[in-house]
Amino acid sequence: MKSIIDKLRYTKLIFLPSIEYIFLYYLTRIPLRSIRQFILRRFFGMRIGDRTTIFMGTLVYSPKNITIGSATTIGHDCYLDGCVSLKIGNNVNISSEAMIWTMQHDAQSPTFGVKTGKVVIEDHAWVSTRAMVLAGVTIGKGAVVAAGAVVTKSVEPYTIVAGIPAKPIGKRNQELDYTLGETNWHLGFI
Ligand SMILES: CC(C)(COP(=O)(O)OP(=O)(O)OC[C@H]1O[C@@H](n2cnc3c(N)ncnc32)[C@H](O)[C@@H]1OP(=O)(O)O)[C@@H](O)C(=O)NCCC(=O)NCCS
Repeated sequence: MKSIIDKLRYTKLIFLPSIEYIFLYYLTRIPLRSIRQFILRRFFGMRIGDRTTIFMGTLVYSPKNITIGSATTIGHDCYLDGCVSLKIGNNVNISSEAMIWTMQHDAQSPTFGVKTGKVVIEDHAWVSTRAMVLAGVTIGKGAVVAAGAVVTKSVEPYTIVAGIPAKPIGKRNQELDYTLGETNWHLGFI
């Protein structure tokens, strides 16, 4: 009996997530955005708003916990971790190869346990290329994360942060007047 329970536990905890990971790895490399986004919405419960583009090669983990608003652009080869809730707003720009994490190992844990924290990226924020946003962080409305920054603490609205760990380097213009979906939506095949 114990071995059956162990097998079921193994299937639930290891086998099924591994299959999902492998499937998503190849799905996100199909060079047709409409197919990728349809499957993520329909079969994986990921919420993706109208005119939002997720470019090829962006890997999603636990997509059922990921919500993306409208007219948002996610560049190529990003990593979106939905281990716990990841919410990305409208008109957000996540540049290529950025990483957003909602889980990490606990460095102080004797058993190398994990810590999680939901991540929120508010409307009109811009996470630049190769930036990394760690678990528990909120990127405020209109804020900018500079290229290569590692964001360990929440960022105030309309604040520009840079470096490791990311610190404020300036303020952004608050009169933002753009809709990202209008510029990217015609790029239907990528
Ligand atoms: C964040 C960013 C927009 C800042 O632009 P900006 O407001 O014009 O800022 P500045 O260029 O005037 O730089 C202000 C200061 O921050 C520093 N800085 C700028 N970007 C930085 C970065 N990525 N990391 C560390 N420091 C940075 C500058 O060296 C400067 O420091 P100084 O005052 O000591 O000279 C820009 O530097 C950036 O990172 N762009 C992202 C590029 C990108 O992702 N491109 C691809 C997709 S579009």
